[in-house]
Amino acid sequence: METAGAATPPTQPPATHPAVAPLAFLLGKWRGEGEGSFPAISSFRYGEELLFSHHPSKPVISYTQKTWKAASGEPMHAESGYWRPRPDGSVEVVIAQSTGLAEVQKGSYDAETKTVTLQSELVGNASKVKQITRAFQVTDGELSYVVQMATITASLQPHLKALLKKI
Ligand code: HEM
Repeated sequence: METAGAATPPTQPPATHPAVAPLAFLLGKWRGEGEGSFPAISSFRYGEELLFSHHPSKPVISYTQKTWKAASGEPMHAESGYWRPRPDGSVEVVIAQSTGLAEVQKGSYDAETKTVTLQSELVGNASKVKQITRAFQVTDGELSYVVQMATITASLQPHLKALLKKI
């Protein structure tokens, strides 16, 4: 007779908050390289680390990013913020950049295709930047993204493209 299995199951907290679960494909630490460009600037290569972390009791993902010059390792841009996925497939993100610029982004995610697309609703404390879009995709365990921006002198176009691996 199997009585042992009838005992009360252990009450373990879920590994991921239900609100965060559809974006679990982002969670973890990613490292890779990117390329930056824009009209009137010299294109550049950079190294990058992204960390998407969360606590199972909170419906939010903490996000930190840091970059460095690919050739020398000297620090470049950094940013951090919070991602709040909603059950309806929308997501809102706030990001503070090391340059002083602040972003409120809204967009959507698709857990099946492992994609997130964001458009700026607010760009604050920026002298040139009018609009920012960000598109992320996880394919075969690699995270790629494109960041586009519009400025006072240039229409919406890519500034950054990168490919990162989970570490
Ligand atoms: C240039 C914004 C992310 C490195 C610029 C410019 C703007 C800008 C407005 C000047 C463009 C112009 O003069 O027409 C942003 C925004 C970012 C971002 C809004 C994030 C959403 C990054 C990152 C890096 C970076 C992650 C480094 C990895 C550079 C460099 C230049 C530049 C090297 C050229 C500077 C120069 O030649 O004076 N960026 N940037 N940016 N950005 Fe970014």
